[in-house]
Amino acid sequence: MKKLAALVILILRFYVDSCTSDSAHPGYPQSSGFCGLQSDELIVDSFRLQQQIDELASFSDSSAPSVTRILYSEADVRARRYIKDLMDSSGLIVREDGVGNIFGRWEGSDSMAPAIATGSHTDAIPFSGKYDGVVGVLGAIEAINALNRTGFKPRRSLEVIMFTSEEPTRFGISCLGSRLLAGLPNMKSSLERVVDKDNISFPDAAAIAGYEFALETLLEVPLKEDTYAAFVELHIEQGPILEEEGIAIGIVTAIAAPASLKVDFRGDGGHAGAVLMPSRNDAGLAAAELALAVEKHVLETQSADTVGTTGVLELYPGAVNSIPSAAHIEIDIRDIDEQRRNSVIQHIKVSASEIATRRHVHLDFQIVTQDPPAASSQKIVKAIESASQQLGLTSKHMISRAYHDSLFMARVSPMGMIFIPCYRGYSHRPDEFASREDLSNGIKVLALSLLALSSDL
Ligand code: GLV
Ligand code: MN
Ligand code: MN
Repeated sequence: MKKLAALVILILRFYVDSCTSDSAHPGYPQSSGFCGLQSDELIVDSFRLQQQIDELASFSDSSAPSVTRILYSEADVRARRYIKDLMDSSGLIVREDGVGNIFGRWEGSDSMAPAIATGSHTDAIPFSGKYDGVVGVLGAIEAINALNRTGFKPRRSLEVIMFTSEEPTRFGISCLGSRLLAGLPNMKSSLERVVDKDNISFPDAAAIAGYEFALETLLEVPLKEDTYAAFVELHIEQGPILEEEGIAIGIVTAIAAPASLKVDFRGDGGHAGAVLMPSRNDAGLAAAELALAVEKHVLETQSADTVGTTGVLELYPGAVNSIPSAAHIEIDIRDIDEQRRNSVIQHIKVSASEIATRRHVHLDFQIVTQDPPAASSQKIVKAIESASQQLGLTSKHMISRAYHDSLFMARVSPMGMIFIPCYRGYSHRPDEFASREDLSNGIKVLALSLLALSSDL
């Protein structure tokens, strides 16, 4: 009996191995299934996944149902430990780089070949939900487990990545971990200068979380050339299209170009009763005017693809009977057309300086990030398409209007993204939700895409 079982395993292994070298369609699905793997062999444990999503959501600095998990907070550190433990129990080789990007590797039979990576983030903006980013990390680990259970052995190694601080909440820099991995210039000098709202520097925040490093360590984070042959990120859509159209899978073809600005106005402040209106230079009103100017300049483009948000407006000293002497605002501008986005930023800049002159306040205008868009790799788009077809799932090509670590991974690897529907398109709010069925579909598509890409040598 034992001998028979060993023989079956051997034949299975041979079959899986040999299908990966089909020269007509290397690594891509054959009509009989993915490299002989029938789609119904792929089992996703969506109950366990939901438990993990719920458990991760309990590591939060706000109460349920909202989730707040900010870079290097205690909740973030607990989430990191949780992910490392899960990777470990899935048999992955775990490592962590200088900025806390976490990697779990399933060594392929050709361990020297560039690997196939997948992953996302687990940090969460204040008072948000439990699916953004988390689906792409826990889902990736479950995709690995599902592949493992079929007996599949990867040819190229597979890696799950949990990126540090995709969200810009603490230091204003989005996709911090993936920017560093992609080797973006000036990151070290930016991180030397930044402080959070409590004036804690980046290295101090990292040290408090147990990441003792010299800033020099950051120079070792960038990926070496050809580390990855592909990067695929699974994410909730964060918009309503898939749900409204009843489509299971979104295949991202491009990610819109994001930018963020920080603007500070400073006036003289003073007593709310004693200083008469003509004598005031109210920094708060300057900020309020600028927030309205942001909306005006965005609408002037007459393009539905241009969006602008003033999501932070802080007044100092913040007392009802005190004229604001300082105002800090943060602005987010995005577009699929980079030129048009840049022109909106220029208009906002001109408005800021006109407002400051007219209101006699000091202006400090800073463009924190201004990133180009990214296009998906055709090869990965095709792999996701074939995987969806194989599973009998409807799919559609779409633009990602949100940014993701994929925006930066695209600079060092061919990139692709899989979207799944989420309830009413809600995201960055506590009622963010994706059904177990949609999660399971996304994970299966991810697993089959990883399988095909891993086999393509
Ligand atoms: C990511 O969280 C984004 O703001 O697009
Ligand atoms: Mn987000
Ligand atoms: Mn996200």
